[in-house]
Amino acid sequence: MKKVFIDYASTTPVDKEVLEEMLPYFDKNYGNASSIHYYGRNAFDANEVAREQVGSLLNASPDEIIFTSGGTESDNLGIKGVAFNNKKKRGTKGYHIITSEVEHPAVLETCKHLEKLGFNLKYLPVDKYGLINPSDLEDAISENTFLVTIMFGNNEIGTIEPIKEIGKLTKKHDILFHTDAVQAIGKIPIDVNKLNIDLLSISSHKIYGPKGVGALYVREGVKLQTIAHGGGQEKGLRSSTHNTPGIVGLGKACELGKKRMSKDVSHLTKLREMLIKEIQKIEQCYLNGHPEKRLANNAHFCFVAIEGESLNLMLDDRGIAASTGSACSSQKLQASHVLLAIGLDPEEAHGSIRLTLGRMSTKDDVEYVVNVLPEVVQKLRKMSPLWNR
Ligand SMILES: Cc1ncc(COP(=O)(O)O)c(C=O)c1O
Repeated sequence: MKKVFIDYASTTPVDKEVLEEMLPYFDKNYGNASSIHYYGRNAFDANEVAREQVGSLLNASPDEIIFTSGGTESDNLGIKGVAFNNKKKRGTKGYHIITSEVEHPAVLETCKHLEKLGFNLKYLPVDKYGLINPSDLEDAISENTFLVTIMFGNNEIGTIEPIKEIGKLTKKHDILFHTDAVQAIGKIPIDVNKLNIDLLSISSHKIYGPKGVGALYVREGVKLQTIAHGGGQEKGLRSSTHNTPGIVGLGKACELGKKRMSKDVSHLTKLREMLIKEIQKIEQCYLNGHPEKRLANNAHFCFVAIEGESLNLMLDDRGIAASTGSACSSQKLQASHVLLAIGLDPEEAHGSIRLTLGRMSTKDDVEYVVNVLPEVVQKLRKMSPLWNR
């Protein structure tokens, strides 16, 4: 049976060039980057090359890159790091962080935790496309606001937030701006200086690098408190022995991501448009997210009277690996907070699937999906009391 992976927002395969670059760091150049001998220096140098590669993708200085274990840790370190530093100076009472209702759980749960510690949180609403309104943001800013954290591109519906406008506002009000760019990196050119971004999270496994490694960009001069105490690696911000094979992989993935971005984006956009055009021919099917301001690889649909999980299982039976939304929350039975925030009712939200393309996706894959999907939808609707009603 043909197999089609169309869930690249959940993870990506490691690019062969990335894997090749990583391999010697497992069994030959296996030193601890903190050791002073040859092996250690070798690992240290490899980390520094990767730091340059990551920085270069963001137009940041290598000194502004902190390696972490992935997007979740980068979000936690960026947000808690700034919050705890603020707490040391001013306490928590009344101190204000602004985020949105559609963030990834790595940001949302971190914010909820800070709320329990006494910080004041504002969760901005979004419109039917998932966009925050910059004027809502400006209205929410008070003299106690010290951080805004709004994601770059949404992991479920693919909507790209107005990052440039947000950066202008945070700069005007002298507030720090963190963005979770885990899904946007490699698909949108990001210049942290032009966009006035102070902190930015990335994850290697979403850009054809290995799992379990990521980075946080921290603008020079921005003060953070560590959230993991220990040996003091990464300027004391992220203790733990460096994961050099992973860091080398992340660096190479960023280098390739920069080199191939325009080719990747045009390939993804072409396939995504084909998907959207064909799938929208299915009766009572709606595209979620913004029609234009969306990630090049994302197509997200709601099918009336269908259960997304059943649809996914039936697609899996036909060799198609898709998703109902974020892999992180697919084990929960609640409707997606992102879909509820854009105004879907829980029934509609449960009837949604996410199809996300990648560098290795082909026209053949898309043709297979658009052939199988209408058949499966029809089968499920035949069994659905909601449809028959
Ligand atoms: C937007 C976003 N942020 C953060 C994460 C978490 O990244 P990681 O799996 O590297 O911890 C993900 C993963 O799905 C994501 O899509």
